[in-house]
Amino acid sequence: MWLGWLQVGAILASSVAVAKESGIAHSPPYYPSPWASGPGEWAEAYAKARQFVSELTLAEKINLTTGVGWMQEACVGNVGSIPRLGFPSLCMQDSPLGIRFADYVSAFPAGINVGATFSKQLAYLRGKAMGEEHRGKGINVQLGPAIGPIGRSPDGGRNWEGFSPDPVVSGHLVAETIKGIQDSGVIACAKHFIANEQERFRQAGEAQGYGFNISESSSSNIDDVTMHELYLWPFADAVRAGVGSIMCSYTQINNSYGCGNSYAMNKLLKGELDFQGFVMSDWQAQHSGVSSALAGLDMSMPGDTVFGTGLSFWGTNLTIAVANGTVPEWRVDDMAVRIMSAYFKVGQDKNQVPTNFNSWTRDEYGFEHALVQQNYRRVNEKVNVRGQHASLIRKIGAASVVLLKNNGVLPLKGTEKFTAVIGEDAGPNLWGPNGCPDRGCDNGTLAMGWGSGTADFPYLITPVEAIQSEILSKGEGNIVAVFDNAAKSQIASVASQATVSLVFVNADSGEGYISVDRNEGDRNNLTLWKGGDELIQTVASNCNNTIVVMHTVGAVLVNEWYDNPNVTAILWAGLPGQESGNSITDVLYGRVNPGAKSPFTWGKKAEDYGAPILREPNAGTDAPQIDFKEGIFIDYRAFDKNNNTPVYEFGFGLSYTTFSYSDLKVEILHTRPYTPTEGITEPAPSLGNSSHDFSSYLFPNSVEKVRLYIYPWLNSSDPARASGDPHYGMDPDDYLPPGATDGSPQPLLPAGGAPGGNPSLYDDIYRVSATITNDGKVTGDEVPQLYVSLGGKKDAKIVLRDFERFTLAPGQQVVWTTTLKRRDISNWDPAEQNWVVTKHRKKVYVGSSSRKLHLKARLPRLRGGDD
Ligand code: NOJ
Repeated sequence: MWLGWLQVGAILASSVAVAKESGIAHSPPYYPSPWASGPGEWAEAYAKARQFVSELTLAEKINLTTGVGWMQEACVGNVGSIPRLGFPSLCMQDSPLGIRFADYVSAFPAGINVGATFSKQLAYLRGKAMGEEHRGKGINVQLGPAIGPIGRSPDGGRNWEGFSPDPVVSGHLVAETIKGIQDSGVIACAKHFIANEQERFRQAGEAQGYGFNISESSSSNIDDVTMHELYLWPFADAVRAGVGSIMCSYTQINNSYGCGNSYAMNKLLKGELDFQGFVMSDWQAQHSGVSSALAGLDMSMPGDTVFGTGLSFWGTNLTIAVANGTVPEWRVDDMAVRIMSAYFKVGQDKNQVPTNFNSWTRDEYGFEHALVQQNYRRVNEKVNVRGQHASLIRKIGAASVVLLKNNGVLPLKGTEKFTAVIGEDAGPNLWGPNGCPDRGCDNGTLAMGWGSGTADFPYLITPVEAIQSEILSKGEGNIVAVFDNAAKSQIASVASQATVSLVFVNADSGEGYISVDRNEGDRNNLTLWKGGDELIQTVASNCNNTIVVMHTVGAVLVNEWYDNPNVTAILWAGLPGQESGNSITDVLYGRVNPGAKSPFTWGKKAEDYGAPILREPNAGTDAPQIDFKEGIFIDYRAFDKNNNTPVYEFGFGLSYTTFSYSDLKVEILHTRPYTPTEGITEPAPSLGNSSHDFSSYLFPNSVEKVRLYIYPWLNSSDPARASGDPHYGMDPDDYLPPGATDGSPQPLLPAGGAPGGNPSLYDDIYRVSATITNDGKVTGDEVPQLYVSLGGKKDAKIVLRDFERFTLAPGQQVVWTTTLKRRDISNWDPAEQNWVVTKHRKKVYVGSSSRKLHLKARLPRLRGGDD
């Protein structure tokens, strides 16, 4: 029987025994929850937060931690305000690609497109622009970027919200996105923590809705090495970049809910990664009160146990738990300090914009408390926050087009005699670009997936509009478009007249609460939607210059047509956002030379990916068990391991020019040896001394109660009545995990010590340089990629470690110099509970894709401590 997290050291031996007995993966307990300490760049914000929180009453602190309930305020989530200090309710708003549920906002390219740019700079600029928009609407926390799902399975519904199934692409781009968002004065929220890799079974209620009788969310069962070397990796980068908040996930991790998992939150995130910001729950992902507080959750979102019930695990219940001594006040102080540290860190004390939109209506007037239809007033000021972002969106859209095939036909000139534009994906959604709530349909051109990871389009430039204006501006050619994929004879007729046929196809996916064409979030298969394969075949059999453009959420199977000689070019344009048509025309007509690289592998068949979505419950009505048996071997690592040749490999992408690689140099840098972190923390700071008298928490008379709103106060001085919990009064010793309330100094973890983990993991160990030359005739972008082979039997053949995107004029050369950091050449050692550089000989490669490794060298052996 395969078990998760087994080798976590002797101290955990007893938990392991329990896991073995029950036969399912087990998440060991880890307590107490580490308290923030304000190291490094957090110091100033932390000091301000401590000061601020020291002046709060218990109810005020709890108000910061607990949402007021679904649809009770303007944003998808709001916590309570502190009227005494004029401190407004903090607003959390989706999404990773722009502002959801608002007007006069931009619809940015999706995360997967940023992945394809392989551009740290564009990731930063997009983050900055999104942050500016969020700030302009009065949002405190942007609920993005997403790095989980990372993309274990290619058909995972929400992969496109994130960057790539490669942890290093994800890690670099999430860090830049966070810096951009937070430099704009908005707190970023890296989500979903962790191993939240499929939509199916993520929530029992949702799964029941589509016919599965399960009582609990699925469990992602994952071993310690895989956790560190794959899933936790980009979160380490997010924390190191100073992210202010992290969202825990719906899924269970080794059979303990993400938002109640002490090992994930206390040990990995706050212990090892020394995360100083706050953990908020995903919406309704909290399943307990006291235990989630002690397991490291800091903010309950949206505050009610189930949307619209007015009941909360926290709010009143957290006040009671502190007043009766079950939850130590230092834990609530720590929650509040973490929230306020993030607030001060991004400067919200100086630049706060009052919220000026309302998620629940696009009208100017509406209800302040939409759930209960109370307080009709002006709720939407319709502030236009788009700025000049359209040009950046267009640029990223073009910079993310991956050219997969080109038989010399691209770029086009625009003077072609007859251009056929074929396919529903070239045209509009007949219901308008926002015609389906949360983009929950696949009508017309696809420019974002569906679910909470969306924004309303301010407009959407369709491919046909942009192509038509291109051709008309040249004043020569005919252009005829057919949007109905089923109109076979019309399509054949138009294609047979065409000098060039541009076929647009797509494949969609999204979040599990919406089902599109019976895809309940995750895709049911990897084929093109709406008969795309047949459409391409029809066109290609009538036109010997057929160019295929794909708007897909990820990899699709292209076997049936990619090597058809009549298919002269293939482009992947992903989910480009509002400027879709302009971006693709920039590439098709050569204004932009494509420089993107595929952020995922294009396999020949779905099975080749080796980490399938669990589609049927496998534990009766209990939590479905998703065993991550493939370990670190997802995407290209799986293909390499199994000697499977993909159609297009990870990192692959053509250009209108060519590049050559030369002169690999590797130099060993003399750095200090790795030092495991030692020592102990300070005791938990205690910032309050709240009363144990329940009557001091009764509702103040001054509060005008909103129906079903979540408050921190009690409606009775009898805690059992005020709580409404039928189990109230149980002896805490019967359910509190050992050590959970201990505020005394705690040992630091050897792999910890600073945000992102042990600082010496980030020491530069080798300097690597290579020369890249543009030896073609036009200016173009190239992305050199540095891979490492760690050399052990259990290691992947190669793993990406760094990349950079350069623009080079014809004949121009660049010497790309980068470094390998200690983490880059380390493996996670579960027995040591630390990173180690193994004795296996290691190699470094620099190439233009994961399979075009033009240059290679052995890494010189390290002297001293590490070897
Ligand atoms: C659930 C989604 O999983 C999460 O990503 C989102 O931020 C929240 N809903 C709020 O809409």
